[in-house]
Amino acid sequence: MTSSEIRQKYLDFFKARDHAVIPSASLIPENDASLLFVNSGMFPLVPYLLGEKHPAGKLLVNSQKSFRTEDIEEVGDNRHNTFFEMLGNWSLGDYWKSEQLHWWFEFIINELKLDPQKLYQSVYIGSADGSIPRDTESIEILLQIFAKHGIDADEAPDMVDGKQPAEELHVGENKYRIFAYRDKNWWQRGDAVGELGGPDSETFYDTGKTHDPKYGEFCHPNCDCGRFIEIGNSVFMQYQKTENAWKELANKNVDFGGGLERLTMVLQEKGNIFQTDLFNDAITKIETLSGKKYEDDNRPFEIIADHLKAATFIMGDEKGIAPSNTDQGYIVRRLIRRAVRFGRQLGITEKQWCGEISKTYIANYKAVYPELSQNESFILDEIAKEEAKFQETLDRGEKEFEKVSGSISGKQAFDLYQTYGFPIEMTLELAKEKGVAVDEQSFNEELKKHQDISR
Ligand code: ALA
Repeated sequence: MTSSEIRQKYLDFFKARDHAVIPSASLIPENDASLLFVNSGMFPLVPYLLGEKHPAGKLLVNSQKSFRTEDIEEVGDNRHNTFFEMLGNWSLGDYWKSEQLHWWFEFIINELKLDPQKLYQSVYIGSADGSIPRDTESIEILLQIFAKHGIDADEAPDMVDGKQPAEELHVGENKYRIFAYRDKNWWQRGDAVGELGGPDSETFYDTGKTHDPKYGEFCHPNCDCGRFIEIGNSVFMQYQKTENAWKELANKNVDFGGGLERLTMVLQEKGNIFQTDLFNDAITKIETLSGKKYEDDNRPFEIIADHLKAATFIMGDEKGIAPSNTDQGYIVRRLIRRAVRFGRQLGITEKQWCGEISKTYIANYKAVYPELSQNESFILDEIAKEEAKFQETLDRGEKEFEKVSGSISGKQAFDLYQTYGFPIEMTLELAKEKGVAVDEQSFNEELKKHQDISR
């Protein structure tokens, strides 16, 4: 099944259950300065989850463009990416846990044909102070759901201090399908007073990978060994944060989110998202440009494919953002520059190549996100300008970096930044590769001094 078919099937499934299909909101938050980018499907819906009437009604579904800045440095480990599409459905004070969980399982088992034998589910164990109860309602519903799909399921014994109890769980060899956790099964967007939150219930797919005991004696759905992959999260958004507690909202809302990239990876039986059809054309293009193979050196391929995809979507957003030194523009700059640097590492000799990668994404996504083709010349012009500027900077900066020996002082890092336009992130990365330390604290002091003077 292609990723486009999965996206369409999901929208159609919920449309057939009276949900209004709403377009993805812009990646740039509206009237909300708490984050630079929309990072989940619920983000643009906060006022409606708080009780305001949504013009399309109480039942909504979409595929939302999302971006997570915090994952920029993680890309390249086979698992992380920064830009992703979140499939989401919402009940604004309408249906509740039973409909949500039944529908979601029906969708993945009957429509996507995932093997129910490979599915596991987590639920909220209850708050430590007892003020928010264990989600026994979801547990009952899940037991029914597993039975309906021919699985004789049971609840696993609870964790003790976040660890599995001494009793061996042997996931896969017993009936344990439902696992209760505390922090892992509580979702809130942020920590500020007024934020929404609630218990959640996540679905895990068993990839069949052998458990790695480095991550603990026994495996379980939230184990970090990589055997289980999370494919969807049903949040029961019924609380709002006050100064010292969580108070019940007037409405009991459902906020579901599932990463299209992850679902595609599972359905296309790939070991990682970069091997799915969502990245194929970009990876092939990088192979042609570099003369190298993805499987021989995955990290630079993944960084380039991820970063140029994210940059393309941010520049191609309805609020089109150009590379700059502030806010969202700085992130675009950082993404393009990092891609250029890793392109160099891969041996790409062309001076203008990033646009070629962007074009693969524009071609593949323009039917779903028409703003990409509307902004195509803006994207390609801006990417070419930024690339040219940075290729020059890199030539100069790398020469200077090579002259530095031993650890790098704050002053040296600052000179690389100020005189040669070499970003601190690049200095840190190159230093890490060389195994030398950078005095980041004194770099920050130098930077602050400089900013104070300029002011
Ligand atoms: N808002 C939830 C998430 O982002 C669904 O995981």
